[in-house]
Order: sequence, then C-alpha cells, then structure tokens
Amino acid sequence: MHILTFDSHQKLHESGAGIIIGMVQTNPRAVLGLATGGTPIGIYQEIVKSYQQGIVSFKDTTTFNLDEYVGLPENHQESYHNYMNTHLFDLIQLQRSQTHIPDGNAADLEAECQSYDKLLEQAGQIDLQLLGLGHNGHIGFNEPDHALTGCTHIVELREETRKANARYFDSIDEVPTHALTMGVGTILKAKMILLIVKGGDKAEIVQRALKGPITTDCPASLLQTHPHLVVLLDSEAGRLL
Ligand code: GLP
Repeated sequence: MHILTFDSHQKLHESGAGIIIGMVQTNPRAVLGLATGGTPIGIYQEIVKSYQQGIVSFKDTTTFNLDEYVGLPENHQESYHNYMNTHLFDLIQLQRSQTHIPDGNAADLEAECQSYDKLLEQAGQIDLQLLGLGHNGHIGFNEPDHALTGCTHIVELREETRKANARYFDSIDEVPTHALTMGVGTILKAKMILLIVKGGDKAEIVQRALKGPITTDCPASLLQTHPHLVVLLDSEAGRLL
C-alpha cells in the first residue's frame, strides 16, 4: 500500500488526475472504474483541464461507475448519471457507449445487476478503480454488514449514509433508501485501486480502514489485501496514521 499525504487539495487533485491520465496515455484502451461523491470532483476538474489542453484523449477508454441510487430519475440533479455527465463525461466527450452506470430505474433490478456484471466481465479487468470512502467505511455503496457481496447487488442504505448524503438533497426524506452497487469482489479485482480521502471528519475511518483489523464491519479495510493500492489523503484525513 502506498499512502501519500498532501497539505494542499490542489496538489492532491493534480496527483490523482496525473495517475489516471498517465494510465490512459500508456494504455488508451484502459478500463476505468469511477466514483461519485464530493471527493473526486477536484480530480475530475484536473482531468478535464488536461483534456482541454490536448494532453490526453479518452476516445478509446471505457468506464464503469461504482453505483447509482434506486428510483432517482436519470436527469435528477443528484443522480449519479447526472453527476458523471456534468462533472466528466460531457466535458471530455465520452460517448454513452463508452460509459456504464447501473440503471437504478430498471424494472427488474436483479436482472440489471446481472447484466452489469456481464458487461464488466466482457470488458475484462478494470485497470484502475477510483474510490472515495464513506464515514462508516463503505466503498461504493457496500455498507458495513456481517457479510459482504462480491458482485453487483441491491443495497439498503444505512441511515448514516442517507444522512451524510442528505446535504445534496432538500431533505433526508428525498434521499433514496436503496442503491445498486458494484460488489467488493469486483472492486478488489481491479488491477490498481486509487483511494482518495479528504477531511478531518474521516480521519478515524481512514485509520480503521488502513491500519485496523480487516473486517466486513469496515468494508474499506478489505482494501488492505489489495496488491496495488494507492491512497491519496489530505493532511486532516491522514492525521491519525
Ligand atoms: C457516497 C458514494 C461513495 C462515496 C462516499 C463518500 O455515498 N456512494 O462512492 O465514496 O459516499 O462521499 P463523499 O466523497 O461525498 O464524502
């Protein structure tokens, strides 16, 4: 595990973007696993800048997102479809055929999970999986539990997760209760994992995830078993390491 701590968000964002851009420059056909949430926005902004400067092209790249809310219309401000279009896809001219996000409005959600896994299998291994970290140790929407699921599945969101994400909605009642998420098995199969965490409110969970016991009570702790994990932290998030 490589842990890099930054005293400036700008440097953290440039470093994270640099790793992703470097991967696509070396392998234009790279398969990228992408994340949402507040954390990766600065990294996406740096990627867009490099794209606009002609430093990198994504025309042969394929992407798979970690998760999506169940029942939120695709064009809802807070859907992860809308998030990705707004922060990245439309700005680097990724075509719809190159990008994949689970459909949280599918009539048959179980079938949607299976077909998402089939698409992942057809694409081969994810070359780089970008991850954020939930306050309770969730990755994607894999919540702490007595057991975790390997493949894409429907998950009931924990109250603390809905509360944490309520800041993006008008009220907590509007935060969906369920989501579709890639499983930890798929996440851990990626060739490289890039975990990004910012803020002192996550210092404790960073410590548990990276140095604590490996347990399904903290899904991110499973990342300790990955042979190629790179962690980028700001100094507040890394203060207990
Ligand atoms: C969300 C997402 C995760 C994200 C995490 C942290 O619920 N499903 O993929 O990493 O919670 O979000 P944030 O970066 O906004 O703190």
